[in-house]
Amino acid sequence: MKIIIINGSARKGNTLTAINALIKGASEKNEIEVIEPDKLQIAPCKGCGACQCHKGCVDNDDTNPTIDKIAAADMILFTTPVYWWGMSAQLKLVIDKCYCRGLQLKNKKVGVIAVGGSPVDSIQYELINKQFDCMADYLSWDMLFQKSYYASEKTDLAKDENSLKELEDIGKNL
Ligand SMILES: Cc1cc2nc3c(=O)[nH]c(=O)nc-3n(C[C@H](O)[C@H](O)[C@H](O)COP(=O)(O)O)c2cc1C
Repeated sequence: MKIIIINGSARKGNTLTAINALIKGASEKNEIEVIEPDKLQIAPCKGCGACQCHKGCVDNDDTNPTIDKIAAADMILFTTPVYWWGMSAQLKLVIDKCYCRGLQLKNKKVGVIAVGGSPVDSIQYELINKQFDCMADYLSWDMLFQKSYYASEKTDLAKDENSLKELEDIGKNL
C-alpha cells in the first residue's frame, strides 16, 4: 500500500515516536511518506468555496501538492497530540484543506493515533475518535484502527515498550 502519515505534532516527541514504531513494522511491505504540516506553508481554509468549481484550492502554497499526495494514497494515518481535548491545529489544518478534494478521498483505508498527557480512559480520546468516525462515515473510509496513548513528557512513549510493540505489530499487519 501507499501510506501517507500526517504528523500532527511539531515537536520530536511522542507522536513521532508512535509514527516511527508503526513505520518499523510497516516499511517492508508498504510505501510510506510522512507529511509534516508544521514544516509546510498551508494557509487555513477560508471557506471561499472556489475549490468546488475549480480544480483544487486557490491558495498558492503547499496545499495542493499535499492534498494530491493524500488523494493518491491507499491509506491515510492521522496522528496527533491531544491539544485541548481535540486534535492539534496542524492536523486540522490539513483535514480542513481536504475539503477541496473531498470526494477523491472516499474509500481510503484509515488509521488514527492520538497521544495525550492524560490516561486513555479520558473523554478526550473518545471525542477525537468520534470526530474521525464521522469523517469515516461521510467518506466511506475503512477505519483500520484508532489508538490512544498516554504520554506526557517528550520521551514518555519511547519508554513504553508495550505501546511500541503494539504499534510495530499494527504496522506489520498493514
Ligand atoms: C497546547 C497544548 C494543549 C494540550 N492539551 C492537552 C489535553 O487537552 N489533554 C491532554 O491529555 N494533554 C494535553 N496536552 C499534552 C500533550 O497532548 C502531550 O504532552 C503529548 O504527549 C504531546 O505529544 P508530542 O510529544 O507528540 O508533541 C497539551 C499540550 C499542549 C502543548
